[in-house]
Amino acid sequence: MRGDETLTAVGNTPLVRLRALEPEGGAEIWIKLEGGNPTGSYKDRMAISVLGGAMRRGDLRPGDRVVEYTGGSTGTALAFVSAVLGLRFTAVFSDAFSASKRQAMAAFGAEVLVEESHGQGITPDLIQRMKARAFALAGEPGSYYADQFGSPEVRAGYEPMGREIAEALGGQVDALVSAVGTGAALMGAADGLTQAGVTAQVIALEPLQSPLLTTGKGGAHRVEGVGVGFEPPFLDRGRLSDIRAIDQEQGFEMCRRLARETGVFGGGSTGLNVVAAIQLAQEIGPGKRVVTFCCDNGGKYLGGHIYG
Ligand SMILES: Cc1ncc(COP(=O)(O)O)c(C=O)c1O
Repeated sequence: MRGDETLTAVGNTPLVRLRALEPEGGAEIWIKLEGGNPTGSYKDRMAISVLGGAMRRGDLRPGDRVVEYTGGSTGTALAFVSAVLGLRFTAVFSDAFSASKRQAMAAFGAEVLVEESHGQGITPDLIQRMKARAFALAGEPGSYYADQFGSPEVRAGYEPMGREIAEALGGQVDALVSAVGTGAALMGAADGLTQAGVTAQVIALEPLQSPLLTTGKGGAHRVEGVGVGFEPPFLDRGRLSDIRAIDQEQGFEMCRRLARETGVFGGGSTGLNVVAAIQLAQEIGPGKRVVTFCCDNGGKYLGGHIYG
């Protein structure tokens, strides 16, 4: 395939200790810097898994069109992998998400269709409208629905992330914590830990402003990529030790603190992750290790409400 060696740049990201934010007498906090992937997010892992798998099976051929509805990170990753594999990509997007994500998809040659949010933020209604539009397009001849909420290859794409964590920490991981959109990154990484013989608590997070998983009722929030307004398809509640709702404003403040005090530069989901990782580190105590993700690169959020 033309240029497909670019795909080897995905994965094997650094795992660093967030010493400066560890509570006194608490556990170690480690963060996997996924912003170092080619499109600046861990979504590159799943895009390779899904599109590479479909091409190997012959379900997708060069020149075919891939369709997905997306808040932008998934779309940018699918646009990148589509460009490398000679596929076309159409994203159903919304103005509720960062303009820079729309531009990034377009930079990789994607067609971007924008569903209006009418200033309401990310709501369950908006997500449903985006989904319906993507479904309709995916039904057209020569189109392939990437199915970020259904394809088993989405969760499998994150297994290497778990194995990388296990290897970097010599197999000692006590808790893995992350905010969930599809739930694939958290569960796939947990699968990778299991494959490496590691047993860790797994904790899922959602924005307090849309506490669907913890209370049954979603709402409008501003944390991109998570809190999708329905049960995350890959979330295996039987594998979770806990689900926590974290205040988005504390998360955004944590993003700013992370950049200033540690140099870790992420988006809103990373802010939620670190707020919860600090809570857990306090709870599980010394000699233990909490691991979380810096899901993507903060540069995507410049000019928005987090960094201004
Ligand atoms: C920035 C960001 N953080 C977190 C997530 C959640 O990842 P997952 O869908 O694997 O649960 C996403 C997913 O779109 C995202 O874009």
